Amino acid sequence: MKAKILFKLSGSIACYKACNLISRWVQEGNEVQTVASAAALKFVGASTLEGLTGKPVYHDLFEPGKQMAHIDLVKWADFSLLCPATANTLNKLAHGLGDDLLGSLFLAHDFTKPYFAAPAMNTAMYDHPATRESLRKLASWGVHILPTGKGRLACGDEGQGKLLEPDLVWESVEQYFANLKRPDRKPLRLLITSGGTEEPIDGVRSITNSSSGQTGARFADYFFNRGDEVTLLKAERAIAPEQPVEVVDFTSFDDLDNQLKGILGRAHYDAVIHLAAVSDYSVDHILIDGRKVTPTAVGKLSSGHEISLNLAPNHKIVDRLRHYSLNRSVLVVAFKLTQNASEKEGERAVLDLLRHSSADFVVHNDLSGVDPENGKHVASLYRGAALTERVTTKDALIQSVESLLVTSLANP
Ligand SMILES: Cc1cc2nc3c(=O)[nH]c(=O)nc-3n(C[C@H](O)[C@H](O)[C@H](O)COP(=O)(O)O)c2cc1C
Repeated sequence: MKAKILFKLSGSIACYKACNLISRWVQEGNEVQTVASAAALKFVGASTLEGLTGKPVYHDLFEPGKQMAHIDLVKWADFSLLCPATANTLNKLAHGLGDDLLGSLFLAHDFTKPYFAAPAMNTAMYDHPATRESLRKLASWGVHILPTGKGRLACGDEGQGKLLEPDLVWESVEQYFANLKRPDRKPLRLLITSGGTEEPIDGVRSITNSSSGQTGARFADYFFNRGDEVTLLKAERAIAPEQPVEVVDFTSFDDLDNQLKGILGRAHYDAVIHLAAVSDYSVDHILIDGRKVTPTAVGKLSSGHEISLNLAPNHKIVDRLRHYSLNRSVLVVAFKLTQNASEKEGERAVLDLLRHSSADFVVHNDLSGVDPENGKHVASLYRGAALTERVTTKDALIQSVESLLVTSLANP
């Protein structure tokens, strides 16, 4: 992207982080013009901003010779980014106040051009009803409000409100423009599985895993919004999508396996995005004081007994998806999650999965690279055994999977 960027800073401790972002965009060949509030210039020097961009920073609405800046800069820029966006400036913008350059520029903003805001503030300020209301209002006017990060804030508090990491701000903006450039395409028919299986122990207990189904819901919403026909086969307790996607619930391994056979056998799907966290084992039987019973035969196990669970291995559903499918050329996207694995170990896990399954693509992520609260989702995408891409956010992952599917379907 080569763009003219109007980069606005308001007075937050996170101004120093914004400098990295400015520097990155300049180094990539974009033209960056900074505008700073008076408070922002207490956190970062005008010389730093001029040194990074090669252009003096605008900060005074009434600066001699530049009094039309609030109109001219809007016409000049391809997009605006307010980063960091303070509670004060966001609340002022939402009330249409134009008593400084940032406010006047916003009032003069041409909404055919994107305006992004990356909030940065203390959790209490972020949660304040005034700020919540302003963020809602600004979003309804077309401002793209970026999420905030969560973690230790400059004031020492922990919580939401931290500026999204500069690389993630960069990626969000770049993705926005990449999306606009994407040509329209034929709708896809997709089956997405998500959430964790629950293997019953007795009438009320089960063995499950920590999969929330959040990524699956996000995939489903995204493809639904792109006009695709989506079925989400999700665990009963998994997060539901926001869009009115067709949802089918499953509980146990057997239930998921049977439903996949039914759904894939009945209708033509172009691809299965298999995100569900499937148990490798189910409870075969329970020994209660040496007496063998099946999980379905007991109500709630009472206390005071000697209990042993006997687990039997399950088959790998991912190996059978194409076999279950009416469309024998269905594309299969498999996911491999590892925990604290090195790059080499991750690659080995992917190759292992490819050896026994007929997955066309494998997304590898390691738990250490996934931080949903801060929008971070580091993942590597493999087409067969070849690493094709590395991404750092969930949105980038979804779009990369989309382009892999679209390209593969166009060139079978
Ligand atoms: C050390 C320090 C750090 C601050 N950090 C933030 C911040 O991260 N976010 C925020 O909304 N306000 C922060 N403030 C308060 C703002 O700087 C203050 O509300 C100021 O009036 C904002 O002006 P502006 O929005 O015109 O830039 C901070 C103040 C101080 C003294």
